[in-house]
Amino acid sequence: MPKKDVHYSDYLQLDKILGAQVMESELEGAPAHDEMLFIIIHQAYELWFKQILFEIDSIAAIMRQPAINDNSPELQTVVHRLGRIETILKVAVHQIDILETMTAMDFLDFRDYLRPASGFQSWQFKITEAKLGLRYTERHGQEYYISQLRQEHIDLIKTAESQASLLDLVNDWLQRMPFFDKPEYWASYQPMFPAATGKHPFWSDYSGIYTESLVEGERQNIRYFETLFFDDTAHPERRLSARACRAALFIMLYRGFPLLQAPFQLLNSLLEIDEQLSTWRYRHVSMVTRMIGYRSGTGGSSGRDYLKGALDKHYIFREIAALASYLIERRRLPVLCRELEERLGFEARS
Ligand code: HEM
Repeated sequence: MPKKDVHYSDYLQLDKILGAQVMESELEGAPAHDEMLFIIIHQAYELWFKQILFEIDSIAAIMRQPAINDNSPELQTVVHRLGRIETILKVAVHQIDILETMTAMDFLDFRDYLRPASGFQSWQFKITEAKLGLRYTERHGQEYYISQLRQEHIDLIKTAESQASLLDLVNDWLQRMPFFDKPEYWASYQPMFPAATGKHPFWSDYSGIYTESLVEGERQNIRYFETLFFDDTAHPERRLSARACRAALFIMLYRGFPLLQAPFQLLNSLLEIDEQLSTWRYRHVSMVTRMIGYRSGTGGSSGRDYLKGALDKHYIFREIAALASYLIERRRLPVLCRELEERLGFEARS
């Protein structure tokens, strides 16, 4: 069957997209020049949110499988798509520069026509947060985070919150790491410290070296180290299990090994995503202060104070970032044994 000619305008449905900028100020008979920019910027954001959600869903579909080979194209795909999300978020941050070419007075020309519409009603933004791993209980302004939304959008957000998030899936993936389950990987390991009951010899060594690395004011860290990495009951609010924390720390410590490079990049991308999201929040709050000062938002929140609260509270991968407190210098790392090095992708040393 001959393939029909595809036309640029039809393929991109430009009629719909380019016909979708309706200025409220014009409808009200008082056209405000900057409203066009305001609409286009928001539409561009919503398109990027759509792409981000598309990437998150595809990543989750891979991560949801009962097993992923850490040396497989699937893991590379996850890393690659997380990298794409990072890049989109960087663009999202920079787009604020364009909107900031509008002044507070330019904004006042049409602001009142928008009430009670607000970025607060961006359900795609809230679904993105939920799919990455932000839980309802961790939200700032729980009492009104969905109060402005239509029921169909609330349903979408609630569905996203009820499903396994990317953070949950990363926890499951880390928990499956088999490094310490197989005695054959550790057959010729040379312990440096006496083994503590119930602990793998590697972790007894690591506790010992970590303790020695702490300066006077940091001594209490060893208590956190013991509970975070070995006691699932100690931090009820935790999202990463003790076993997952051990796997993540091991990946960070030995990321030079070929098999650990993709897992390391995956963890690093999550931190980058959190950093870009919080940079966006920071830039947004600064822009808001510049545009409306301390007035309340069109969505009815306290405005700047609400946004600052969300900025401080909505870090999703903070537990992964916190693992940096438990790293030690490379030169102090326990030397792995030949069997494990082979497994991680380096030839055995002679
Ligand atoms: C003149 C520019 C802007 C101003 C003055 C502004 C103001 C505000 C305010 C005051 C809020 C708090 C909720 C409320 O009471 O309304 C808010 C929330 C929000 N805005 Fe904006 N905004 C602007 C531009 C943007 C742009 C370009 C986006 C891009 C999508 C955006 C997305 C959001 C989102 C997603 C929220 C909810 C954040 C959260 O709940 O953590 N805003 N905005």
